[in-house]
Order: sequence, then C-alpha cells, then structure tokens
Amino acid sequence: MNLFISNKTKKYAFLTAVIMLFTFTGFALLQAREMIDTMPEYKSETIKLPEPVQGSNTSIEEALLKRRSIRSYKDSSLTLAEVSQLLWAAQGITSPRGLRTAPSAGAIYPLEVYVVAGNVDDLPDGVYRYNPYKHELVRVAEGDKRTELCNAALGQTSVRNAAAVIVFSAVYERTTIKYGDRGIQYVYMETGHAAQNVFLQTVPLNLRTVVIGAFYGDKVKKVLKMSDREHPLYIMPVGRIK
Ligand SMILES: Cc1cc2nc3c(=O)[nH]c(=O)nc-3n(C[C@H](O)[C@H](O)[C@H](O)COP(=O)(O)O)c2cc1C
Repeated sequence: MNLFISNKTKKYAFLTAVIMLFTFTGFALLQAREMIDTMPEYKSETIKLPEPVQGSNTSIEEALLKRRSIRSYKDSSLTLAEVSQLLWAAQGITSPRGLRTAPSAGAIYPLEVYVVAGNVDDLPDGVYRYNPYKHELVRVAEGDKRTELCNAALGQTSVRNAAAVIVFSAVYERTTIKYGDRGIQYVYMETGHAAQNVFLQTVPLNLRTVVIGAFYGDKVKKVLKMSDREHPLYIMPVGRIK
C-alpha cells in the first residue's frame, strides 16, 4: 500500500473539505433564516393592493419642507390607493433582486409593517400585515382596533382619530444572526429610514402623520397579534389634513 499521498490528492481533499464546509454552513444558515422568517399562518383573506404610482407634483424638497408631526386629522376616509402608496414607501420592493425603498443592513429586511384600518375605503376595519413581495395585505384581525391601540399608546388620541395607523415591528434575529448584538442598532436605524419614507410620502398625498415611540410594547403586540419573535418599534397614525 502506498502510504504517500501526492500533493495533488491533498489539494483535492482540501478543496472538497472547503466546499463541504461552505455547503453545510450555507444550508444551516438558510434553515435558521427560514425558522426566523416564518410568520404566523393566518387562515384569512389577502387583499391585493392597487399598484403604487411613481410620480407626483411634489418635489423632494417640498416634501422635506412640509414634513411635520401632525396629531389631529380631518374626519375623512383614506383610499386603498393611498394606503398602498404609504406601504410601498415604507418597504416596497424596487428591484428585481428584492431590494426595497428603505436600506437594510445586509439586505436582510428585519421589519414587518402593519396597518390598523378604521376608516379606509374598500378595506374592512381590521389589522393587516403588509406582504411586500406580493404588494398585498394579509388580514390578521377583524374589527376596528384603533381604540385598543390608542390605549396601548398611553391614550394618545392621534392613534384613535387617524383613519389608519401604520405600525412597524421587527424580528431582531434576522439581523443579529449575521451581525450579532450590533444588529439591534441596525434594526432601529432601519425603522427610522422606513418611517421617514412614510413621512415624506404623506406630503404629496395631502395626508399627515406623526411617529409615536411612547407605547407599551406588550400591549401593542397583543392588539396586533404579533408573534413572540416580533417587537413593535414605531406607530404612525395617518389622516387627511384638517
Ligand atoms: C423616537 C421618537 C419618538 C417619538 N414619540 C412620540 C410620541 O410618542 N408621541 C408623539 O406625539 N410624538 C412623538 N414623536 C414626535 C416628536 O415629538 C416630533 O418629531 C418633534 O416634536 C419635532 O416635531 P416635527 O416632527 O414636526 O419636526 C417622536 C419622535 C421620535 C423621533
């Protein structure tokens, strides 16, 4: 038996080991990612949203100039097209690779976006989760939940009086699996990016909003039936200018 292994054989063995290691690690990461990404299954309807438009008469400068935290709104409904536009601004997909309107560390996208609808044309009152991949809403709960959400937000009346309320939550593990504890900061930064997009998008639509950070997280989670892995981060009531 030849006990000497040629250099060529050693090279092949090393390459095979490296390939196997990459394959195994990649597979393990994919599995972990899949577990983290799985959202609760709602045996409920989905609502296709109107296509977002990509033009308006408002310049980016005008949107920046007019962005203001407004907490009281006209008692008037939003259209489904307006809700669609706001959700697209928040997390809409803008490239064939699946990249979105807001930047995301490692393009991992830890954010989930909800709409609590109370006065939206062609949308029954309820809680909906936005699916950016299909640009549609998935119903999570039925009925007007604005008062419950207002109570969870320390009674801030802007939440109860808005026609619809956008809520951002995050699954931290999607980002921390790659970036460790630093991923938590990244998630907060991303929420700010997405919320500012919504803020700016309200201007050409003649809508107004405010970002709300003061709320009881556990109560918000309950109202929106969030999974254990999700953490609410921002609440944005939206309504028409008075
Ligand atoms: C992290 C954060 C949390 C906030 N939380 C609340 C809140 O709970 N309720 C509220 O009415 N406004 C809240 N605001 C809005 C600020 O009060 C508002 O941005 C500030 O007064 C400046 O006004 P402007 O946004 O019109 O420029 C929050 C803003 C930030 C950035």
